[in-house]
Amino acid sequence: MSQAVTSGAKVSLTGIKPTGEPHLGNLVGAIRPALTLTEAYDSVYFIADYHALTSLRDPKELRQYTRSVAATWLAAGLDPKRTTFYVQSDVPEIFELNWALSCMTAKGLMNRAHAYKAARDKNVEAGEDPDAGVNMGLYNYPILMAVDILIMESDVVPVGRDQLQHVEYAADIAGSFNHVYGKNYTFKVPEAIVPDESRGQTLPGLDGRKMSKSYDNTIPLFLPEKKLLKLVRRIPTDSTPVEEPKDPSTSAPFRILEQFASADHAHVVEDTRKRLEAGGMGWGELKNVLFEVLNTEIAPLRERYDALMEPGSELDTVLAEGAQKARDRAGRVLSQVREAIGLTGVAR
Ligand code: TRP
Repeated sequence: MSQAVTSGAKVSLTGIKPTGEPHLGNLVGAIRPALTLTEAYDSVYFIADYHALTSLRDPKELRQYTRSVAATWLAAGLDPKRTTFYVQSDVPEIFELNWALSCMTAKGLMNRAHAYKAARDKNVEAGEDPDAGVNMGLYNYPILMAVDILIMESDVVPVGRDQLQHVEYAADIAGSFNHVYGKNYTFKVPEAIVPDESRGQTLPGLDGRKMSKSYDNTIPLFLPEKKLLKLVRRIPTDSTPVEEPKDPSTSAPFRILEQFASADHAHVVEDTRKRLEAGGMGWGELKNVLFEVLNTEIAPLRERYDALMEPGSELDTVLAEGAQKARDRAGRVLSQVREAIGLTGVAR
């Protein structure tokens, strides 16, 4: 296809926390929009395993999810030659900058972070010590995220609404650094890009609420066919009889169909919409259509995914090369920061 987007292009960066198996909602809401951005931006995408460590305690699980998320992005079409794609913990430069920026970040800023405040409020409500179960990783989470963003000189950060505050914190932290050291080095100040949810990029899950691993209502992407069919049958519908006209926009299976289907199946979506509105199409038939479209589109991805998940697959090479590219980029920024703050150039 086209050339790699490199110098001159703006940098788009996002991190994916490996805390579960990828599901349909991730593909529609995060992966596809991020892949579209690779056409216009110098794109940097990574698996945030350090961030996952704030909540995961099982090493096997962490390894499995990290591999699975990486394989999913590649199977979905991420081109590692045109992007910088890596595992966060393969880049020790991130860790070093994390300390430096921790020393320049006000504790009060962390006290006000949404995720930490929510954990405290829950404890207080339950009559527990406010900091019960809160580890320092959770507390410092926004600083590490700022480092992820700043060390790659990111211009834009595509994230869900729940991550907006974190990107604002990254901009704040960059601002504090630039204020003190700006004569020696200035960080680029990043901006968030939030998906336009009015355009319907949130997929309903198995209970009709937004599909999310925190609601435990997801349809995992790479299920065997039979299991996929079983889950599709569980998507809630109302009791409107077959012959009656139906409103597609309030139907969870239709909304999934509409948002998931690629251009190849646009005609199926339109045909289904008309048939529901006209009456005569029941929910059971709609679910069959949904299953067919999902299965047809996912099958080739599933095959690629399964191959990548094999030990010793191409995935290992892709991640090793990605780590090297990421370290080169991060190293250039880190050495300037070290110089700017007085960690290098002492004895000459
Ligand atoms: N905190 C993000 C999440 O929970 C993951 C993440 C880590 C991230 N570092 C990042 C996102 C940097 C954007 C930029 O989903």
